[in-house]
Amino acid sequence: MYFVSAMLRSAIKITRCGSIKVKRVSNLHEICRISRNYYAASTLINEKRKESLLGGGKTKQDAQHAKGKLTARERIQLLLDKGSFREYDAFVEHACTDFNMEETKIAGDGVVAGHGTVYGRRIFVYSQDFTVFGGSLSRTNANKIVKVMDQALLVGAPVIGLQDSGGARIQEGVDSLAGYADIFQRNVLASGVIPQISLIMGPCAGGAVYSPALTDFTFMVQDTSSMFVTGPDVVKTVTNEQVSQEALGGARIHTTKSGVAHLSFTNDIEALQNLREFLTYLPSSNRDPVPKQSCEDPIDRQDEALDTIIPSNSSLAYDMKEVIHRIVDIHSFFEISPFFASNILIGFARLNGESVGIIANQPLVSSGALDMDASIKAARFIRFCDAFHIPLITLVDVPGFMPGTSQEHSGIIRHGAKLLYAYCEATVPKLTVITRKAYGGAYIVMSSKHLRGDYNIAWPTAEIAVMGATGAVEIIFRKHPDKAAMRKEYKNKFTTPLFAAKKGYLDDIIQPSETRIKLIEQLDVLKTKALKNPWKKHGNIPL
Ligand code: HXC
Repeated sequence: MYFVSAMLRSAIKITRCGSIKVKRVSNLHEICRISRNYYAASTLINEKRKESLLGGGKTKQDAQHAKGKLTARERIQLLLDKGSFREYDAFVEHACTDFNMEETKIAGDGVVAGHGTVYGRRIFVYSQDFTVFGGSLSRTNANKIVKVMDQALLVGAPVIGLQDSGGARIQEGVDSLAGYADIFQRNVLASGVIPQISLIMGPCAGGAVYSPALTDFTFMVQDTSSMFVTGPDVVKTVTNEQVSQEALGGARIHTTKSGVAHLSFTNDIEALQNLREFLTYLPSSNRDPVPKQSCEDPIDRQDEALDTIIPSNSSLAYDMKEVIHRIVDIHSFFEISPFFASNILIGFARLNGESVGIIANQPLVSSGALDMDASIKAARFIRFCDAFHIPLITLVDVPGFMPGTSQEHSGIIRHGAKLLYAYCEATVPKLTVITRKAYGGAYIVMSSKHLRGDYNIAWPTAEIAVMGATGAVEIIFRKHPDKAAMRKEYKNKFTTPLFAAKKGYLDDIIQPSETRIKLIEQLDVLKTKALKNPWKKHGNIPL
C-alpha cells in the first residue's frame, strides 16, 4: 500500500538503457492512469498467484488430506527452514490444446519448484502436486523440474524431488515423454556432482520410476506411496497375476525385497523430518568438504564393553550395530536400507563431528556372509561416499561369500565383483577394522590393505585366513587320522591377526575399546590424502 500511494505522487519510467527512473508527475490524469494500470496488473498477478497457491483447489486438497497425505506446498514448508522457500515459475501454464486442455489451465501446472535452506544450507526442491492433473508430468511441468536441476548443478547444491504423480500427462503424449527424458538426462549428469534424493509420497508409476532410481537415495512413505513400472491392471493382463498396488510396489516391498527404496517412514511428516536430518550428513556437492558439526562426544572416549563383545565361541553371533554405536559420535549412526540385505550394514555416522560412511558385516544375519544383495547394497553406497569425499570405515566379520546354487546361478560372481570394484576404485580415506572373521575372497573385498586400504587394524579376536579351520582341514588333511589336532594347529597359525600383522597386512592390532580414538586420529592424518586413479573416460563396473 505504501508503494501504491507513493505512485500517486510519482511515476515509474523505464529508460531506454533499462534502468528505472522515478519521475515526479503533476498531471492528475496521468497519475490516475498509471495507478489504474498498476492496480489492474497487480490484481491479475495476485489472482494468478492465489490460483497457483491453491493448486487443484480446496476439494482436491481435502481429498489429499483424507488420504493421509500433505499437499505439495505443505511438504515443502516442512522440509525447508521456516520462510526460506523461494519459488520459481509459479505462473507457468501448460501449452496443450488437445482434448480441450486449453480450458483447464492451472498456474504452476502441477509442480511446485524452487530453493530454500535446510539447517541453513541451500537445497533445490520440486514437489509434485497431485491435486493438479494427478501431479502428472507435462512438458511445462518438466521444464520447471529441469530448471531447478540445472541451477542446482550450476551452484552445487542438492536436489530433492518430492514425488506424487500419476506419471506422464496422458493428454500430452510424446511431449510428456520428452520431459521425462530431459529429467533422466540431468539425473545422470548430476550423479556424483550433487546429491540427489527422491522422496516418494504418492504414486510413482511407469517410466517415471527411473528418475528416483537414478538418484542417490530413495525414501518412501508407508501405505500412501508406491513405485512400479507397470501397474496391477497391466500385470493382470500380461501375466494373469492378481496383485494390489501395495503388494506390487509399496514401501515394504521396496525396502525389504527389491532394495529400490532405502528407507520408509510412517507418514509425510516423519519422512520430511528424517530427510532434513539425513541432509546434515551430506556435502552440498563434490566441490565441498563433508559438513562438520560440533562433537559433544569425547574423542578419546574408551568403551570397555567392546573388549568383551565378541563371544568366546567364534561361531556365535553378536550385534555389529552395537559395535558401530559404541564407536561413532553418540546418536550419530543414520542407517540406510536396514531391512534389505541385512547381512551387511551401511549408513552415515560422525566421528569427531565429521561425516563418515560405515560398511559393516552383520554376524546376526547369515553369519555376515556376503551375498548378491549385500554386495550391491554396499557397492552403491561406497561409490556415493567416494564421489562426495566421505571417508569409508569398514568393520569386518565375514566368513566368506554365500555358497550355493541359488547365489552362483544368479550371478554372485558378477555382483560380488561390484563390491570389489567399488572398494578398489575408491580414493577417499579407507579405514578398516577386522573384529573377528576375515576369510578368503571376502577378506580381500572388505577394504583390505591390498585394495589401497589406508589404515587396516584388527582386534585381538581377528581370524584371517583362506577359510575357517573346519573347512580347511577337510580339504588339506582329508585323510589325516587326527583331524582335531590338525584343526588346532590350523587355528593357532591362522585364526589370529598376528600372522597378517607380521607381514604388514595390518597396520596394528588394537584393544577394541580404543577403536574410536584410533579411527579419529587416523582420519585426521588422512585429511590431506591425495590419490588419483589413472585418467579414463569412465571405468566399466560389472553391472
Ligand atoms: C493426466 C492424470 C494422470 C495422467 C491421473 N490423472 N493420472 N491426468 N495424466 N497420467 C488425473 C485423473 O484424470 C484425475 O483427474 C486426477 O488426476 C486424479 O486421479 P485419480 O485417478 O482420480 O486418483 P486416484 O484414484 O488416487 O488414482 C491415482 C492413480 C491413477 C493410481 C495414479 O490416477 C492412475 O492410474 N493414473 C494413471 C497412471 C499411469 O498409468 N500413468 C502413466 C504411466 S506411464 P480429475 O480431473 O478426475 O481429478 C508413464 C510413462 C512415463 O508415466 C515414461 C517415462 C519414460
